[in-house]
Amino acid sequence: PRNIFFSRHGESQYNVEGKIGGDSDLSPRGWMYAKALPQLIKDNIGDAPLTVWHSTLRRTGQTASELPYPKLAWKSLDELDAGVCDAMTYEEIEKYYPEDYANRDDDKFNYRYRGGESYRDVVVRLEPIIMELERQENILIIGHQAIIRCLYAYFHALSQEDLPYIKIPLHTVIQLTPKAYGCDEKRFQLPI
Ligand code: F6P
Repeated sequence: PRNIFFSRHGESQYNVEGKIGGDSDLSPRGWMYAKALPQLIKDNIGDAPLTVWHSTLRRTGQTASELPYPKLAWKSLDELDAGVCDAMTYEEIEKYYPEDYANRDDDKFNYRYRGGESYRDVVVRLEPIIMELERQENILIIGHQAIIRCLYAYFHALSQEDLPYIKIPLHTVIQLTPKAYGCDEKRFQLPI
């Protein structure tokens, strides 16, 4: 059976600083994850063919860099665009845009950042990715928190209300094996 693997990029410099968005590099811990990832994947699929898809942002390309498989960068896998809040911490957003902060809390799926995107927008832009995923064999997607939430919710048929709160931890590979109805799931967390 074919497998779909999801992983967030390794820890980034912005993750360390608590800032959202941006295009920062991996932190030293993030690089440790990038270096450990090839063995974890090989242990799971052996010599079966695999293609790696990542976003156009530095942190996903860096996380994919050690993987010995064909790779493809998709703009539509870039993280949810936080508009004017890009590069801020959640504390800064609460301070400078208190109304937005509250509105997002009220309806996280539909809230659209000023000059940016909502989860609903991201679901729409991921449609071509999902169509292509349905036609492919083994794929590993190295993405971002909001992006993987949307893809994961699609394969597990989770609701729009739950989608923005799905736990997608760093340094964890999620393996989905599609069945006639639904998907089997395994998670592999690297102790990094
Ligand atoms: O903090 C990492 C991050 O990927 C941000 O770049 C992004 O804005 C955020 O997570 C998405 O998570 P949430 O929708 O819970 O703020």
